[in-house]
Amino acid sequence: MTDFDLDTEVITRVREASDIIAVVSDQVRLKHRGRTWEGLCPFHEEKTPSFTVDAEKGLYYCFGCHQGGDVFKFVMAQQNFNFPEAVEYLARRFGVDLPARSPGAQKRRRESERQRAILEEAQRWFVDQLHSAGGAEAARELEKRGFPQSSWLDFGFGWAPDEWRALVDHLRTRHPEGVLTQAGLVVQPESGKSPYDRFRKRLMFPIRSGDGRLIAFGGRILGEGEPKYLNSPEGTLFHKRSTLFALDRARKEIASSGEVIVVEGYFDCLSLHRVGLVNVVATLGTALTPEHGRSLRRLLGEDGRVLLCYDADSAGRRAAATGAGVLLQAGVDVAMITIEGGKDPDDIIRDGGIEAFNSMASSPTPLLDFLLADLPPDPADRRRTGLNLAPLVCSASNPAYRQNLIDELARRLNLRPRDIESKGRTPGARGGPPPASSPSPPQAATAPGETDLARILLEGSPAIRAEAIETVDPELIEDTRVRGLLALVREWGTDQEIATRVMAESQDEDLRTLVARLCTSEHPPVTEEGAASTLALVVHRQRREAARSLQEAIEQASRTGDFERLAQLQEEKIRLRRRTK
Ligand code: UTP
Ligand code: MN
Repeated sequence: MTDFDLDTEVITRVREASDIIAVVSDQVRLKHRGRTWEGLCPFHEEKTPSFTVDAEKGLYYCFGCHQGGDVFKFVMAQQNFNFPEAVEYLARRFGVDLPARSPGAQKRRRESERQRAILEEAQRWFVDQLHSAGGAEAARELEKRGFPQSSWLDFGFGWAPDEWRALVDHLRTRHPEGVLTQAGLVVQPESGKSPYDRFRKRLMFPIRSGDGRLIAFGGRILGEGEPKYLNSPEGTLFHKRSTLFALDRARKEIASSGEVIVVEGYFDCLSLHRVGLVNVVATLGTALTPEHGRSLRRLLGEDGRVLLCYDADSAGRRAAATGAGVLLQAGVDVAMITIEGGKDPDDIIRDGGIEAFNSMASSPTPLLDFLLADLPPDPADRRRTGLNLAPLVCSASNPAYRQNLIDELARRLNLRPRDIESKGRTPGARGGPPPASSPSPPQAATAPGETDLARILLEGSPAIRAEAIETVDPELIEDTRVRGLLALVREWGTDQEIATRVMAESQDEDLRTLVARLCTSEHPPVTEEGAASTLALVVHRQRREAARSLQEAIEQASRTGDFERLAQLQEEKIRLRRRTK
């Protein structure tokens, strides 16, 4: 990852230097229309333009699919960069110097660069070893797996010889052992024994980040030995949770086809690439994580689909079901490619070539067929077990997929969609990560006046903002985005360019999208009068809500005879009444 201090000043300089129209124009034909520019949205299929860019504010928003943000977010979405990478890319493109600022950041940056350089050196060395006499056995294994010598360079295959210190000895002259250990190439045993090579007797392949940088290695043992596959350890450069093997090779095809095949094995993935199926990635011996889900979602766009191709054994099926849940939460559609007979994609390709695999991939199993295949035959049992799938289907963050799945599951179990929905909402019914931030259209502000309140916070004068901070109770704001915005304005003070800072600093993706939408849509300016009536509305509603829930609590307490609580609540009621007056 890029490493420099992302303080507001740097971000502002890069933002100001960046020409959002130029950046968006790489992907979209824009036409000038009034204050804004318009074009066909790059995030979803459409025939009439609903994608708007406001050059002055530096924001974009699509009124069709509700994606929106600033130039950083656009670059992140289009190129699958993280935030620092987007800043660095734009800085380079628009000629802004990015000094590494704090000594800490400078040090981290030097460390990453050094580790990367060492990995590159190791990669060259592994490749040399494969081509040397000592690499003959590995070379034969590759040929046997269908990788002729002409393909080795492309895939970056190498060989780690069956020796304890070959690589350490090679690198030690130029790099301290400690750094080699940090880079994950060398293992430092405790008690002062000499360090030795992590990878021995292994067929090596580079693991790259989505933007093609070398971040780790994987190695397959030749012959018998444990573990069969070994990766670099987690470190500064390598995070398994967010890395998908071969994403660098696959990303373009994933984005253009809107489909990605996720397999379990390295060689499954490589073999598919070899025969020309390149929208394929593999997890690195881990389950699919929400990070994986989000990065695939970004590449796939609105109507993308993931085809999970996991082992057909029970562990594989469980992993596939869990993976499906993660993907649904990330907002992508999922189907399954099932291979019978204990084979993996690599076996299929070796036996029958791409045609054999394609014939399976072209008719994937719909998610519910896959999930319901294991159900018991007895209708009552079936229904009971089937209902356990409710939380999974209800967790789909894309409303259209969610509805389809709910309806379909209800139909199959002979229940009403409502039954699925209520079962799906049971808290704690299913473990796993909380739903990912919704990439689908944002929920309308739930309480009246709250969107206007957001506008006041973004565009009102300092005095109006101060008034809003004074009068509105954040606890009682229903829309979590608006609540977050209010908290930020409180923290930052009222004399700030709030929208800009939110876009630069807020971690809340939904809030950033809301801000982008509010800033790009046409609306009358915020006036004192308008603001006053909005605030009155919001405050009135809040008081009424507070009074109502207080009243409920009072009734509850008197029903259960909890007099202590009752006294407390009565006091609160009196306080609230005083405030209202
Ligand atoms: P498999 O044991 O099914 O191996 O592991 P495979 O992919 O068919 O490999 P070959 O064809 O025998 O070489 C499936 C995947 O699980 C991960 C790897 O990603 C592997 O490709 N794995 C397996 C590990 O990470 N470590 C291991 O020790 C074994
Ligand atoms: Mn295999």
